[in-house]
Amino acid sequence: MIIAPSLLASDYGRFAHEAARVDRSGAEWLHIDIMDGHFVPNISFGPEVLRHVRPHFSRFVDVHLMCTKPEILLEPFAKAGADSITIHVELGDQVTPLIWKIRSLQKKVGIAINPPTNIAAVKPFLSQVDLVLVMTVNPGFGGQAFIEECVPKVQQVAAWRKELGLDFRIEVDGGITDVTGVECARAGADTFVSGSYLFKKHSLGHAVRALRTRLVEASAELV
Ligand code: DX5
Ligand code: ZN
Repeated sequence: MIIAPSLLASDYGRFAHEAARVDRSGAEWLHIDIMDGHFVPNISFGPEVLRHVRPHFSRFVDVHLMCTKPEILLEPFAKAGADSITIHVELGDQVTPLIWKIRSLQKKVGIAINPPTNIAAVKPFLSQVDLVLVMTVNPGFGGQAFIEECVPKVQQVAAWRKELGLDFRIEVDGGITDVTGVECARAGADTFVSGSYLFKKHSLGHAVRALRTRLVEASAELV
């Protein structure tokens, strides 16, 4: 089980300090949400923030591009320290060339899907990616309510992964707590982005460990 705290929910005045806190918490990944104000109605931060944060987080940096023209951002984020770059399947014909470009930068590739998009949209790409990110909120903001209707999409992707003998990770993102995360773990998710739930806690380390324990227990009950 991988826990990926989202920097979007951290203290914007202390990104380096917050990244170090995530590092000390033992979270396996740091999730970096990049928003361009066009693909989603919000703007977050750019490659320079990641470049400054990178020395303070020693493990895996998971960049989530919620951007209409991600091709101009792939190299800057790869250079700034991304280990994985996720793009959205809603980008249509851009997806295949983007996957190739991310591969050419020697980074892991993720494909994300928004709640309204039919899960069938990701099927053609499953053999080409390392990660499928099932959005459990509409992208653009932290602190939103979990969308229950997305859980069957996690089950479907997990079924395809088994059927096709693939080993991509299944990540869920948006409104993930110890309750909603358990639902997703039971459905087959193995990688959990969590922002507001984790950063609201007094001790991030304790919250990460407690969440992981709950999710490991739940995944044993895989339906
Ligand atoms: C939303 C982002 C999510 C968000 C998660 O567009 O992709 O990663 O930061 O934050 P919470 O866990 O607060 O929903
Ligand atoms: Zn995200």
